[in-house]
Amino acid sequence: MHNSAPRPMAGSRSSALKGRVRVPGDKSISHRALILAALAVGRTRITGLLEGEDVINTGKVLRALGARVERTGEGAWQVDGVGVSGFAEPDTTLDFGNSGTGCRLMMGAVGGCPVTATFDGDASLRTRPMQRVLDPLARMGVAATTMAEGGKLPLTLRGARDPIPIVYEPPVASAQLKSAVLLAGLGAPGVTTVMEKEATRDHTERMLRHFGADVTVEVVGDGRRITLKGQPELTPADVAVPADPSSAAFPLAAALIVPGSEVVLEGVMTNPLRAGLLATLKEMGASIETLATKTDGGEDVADLRVRFSSLKGVEVPAPRAPMMIDEYPILAVIAACAEGTTVMRGLKELRVKESDRLAATADMLRVNGVEVEISGDDLIVHGHGRPRGGGTVATHMDHRIAMSALVMGLASDKPVQADDTGFIATSFPTFVPMMRGLGAQLA
Ligand code: S3P
Repeated sequence: MHNSAPRPMAGSRSSALKGRVRVPGDKSISHRALILAALAVGRTRITGLLEGEDVINTGKVLRALGARVERTGEGAWQVDGVGVSGFAEPDTTLDFGNSGTGCRLMMGAVGGCPVTATFDGDASLRTRPMQRVLDPLARMGVAATTMAEGGKLPLTLRGARDPIPIVYEPPVASAQLKSAVLLAGLGAPGVTTVMEKEATRDHTERMLRHFGADVTVEVVGDGRRITLKGQPELTPADVAVPADPSSAAFPLAAALIVPGSEVVLEGVMTNPLRAGLLATLKEMGASIETLATKTDGGEDVADLRVRFSSLKGVEVPAPRAPMMIDEYPILAVIAACAEGTTVMRGLKELRVKESDRLAATADMLRVNGVEVEISGDDLIVHGHGRPRGGGTVATHMDHRIAMSALVMGLASDKPVQADDTGFIATSFPTFVPMMRGLGAQLA
């Protein structure tokens, strides 16, 4: 996909959006379901799997490592796992495409097995920092035998036969980093401990437990102390993947900013460590009503009714960033449509996402006539109701910038063009038809 020609598209001013939709399965949970199923002994069935390119690539990689991964229907997959430490040495390079999550989680999972494998990805993934994962893995006995300058892809890892159980304090709030250490710790003859200063999404911990691992989580201040007893026998456990709140953010935002809209989003995961956007929007005055709630696949989910709202600017505190790290580009669009200034603090990690998302978000707004500043690691957006639009947004191989730009166009005076929408397929392959179904003008 990443070799194909760019696919530009524009979002244009739309009349009220109406309807009920269920966005695809959560990307974080989909990756983890495949990986843990591949490390269990026996057959796991997964429903609601996100069939986006990122997750499909993780499935292909797991096949190359010896697991049987088969699609049995829409969103329905079956995995025959090889057991903890059971990966076979792959005879091809492991290609993660655009996916930092797939790559970093699998660096941990492979590092905990006695195999050697080469990791690679597309031009975006090749720019992203991997040293943060290599550091703790090195302490566990995993060797990076070759790598590009600065600890980047492509790189080759020699996994450890009996990885050393460590006590690790991540220097950045990153669920990917935490998860890599825990997944490597599955192979360790002892207890691996991760001490997070700030809590990050806990899907790995929850899912490890779902597959029978002995995991404890203690709240310590704003953070968590997570322990995992190594060398468990993971038992197959079916997974129903709930709808992705980071994908739901796009139709939700569209409903808030296109006058007269009313949209119901079904089954959205409301895990508290992913709920920063909802909290922020409520502070801005958004009309978001929780209809039915239930538990789906070990996670709380809710149907949300969202109505067009007049919004005001707010300050988003830095400690909230890990709970909404993927939602800042679309929040910036919403902030541009609000009245007043929104200050989003502590966005350093946004610089190392699929693009430099801090710069890309500011540029997206600027070319469409929105007043925006970056001050240190903070993003400041001055909202004046409807943006002018009329700009072409450089998406830098970043799905979330592309979707944010198209949504902005729905509520702007003039159309907003995204220079390439091809990468939307990494996380939300049904975005365009689903948004058109609600009445969005995308062409
Ligand atoms: C993810 C963690 C976040 C997030 C990414 C998914 C995960 O990255 O941006 O989209 O599934 O663990 P970091 O852990 O690097 O912040």
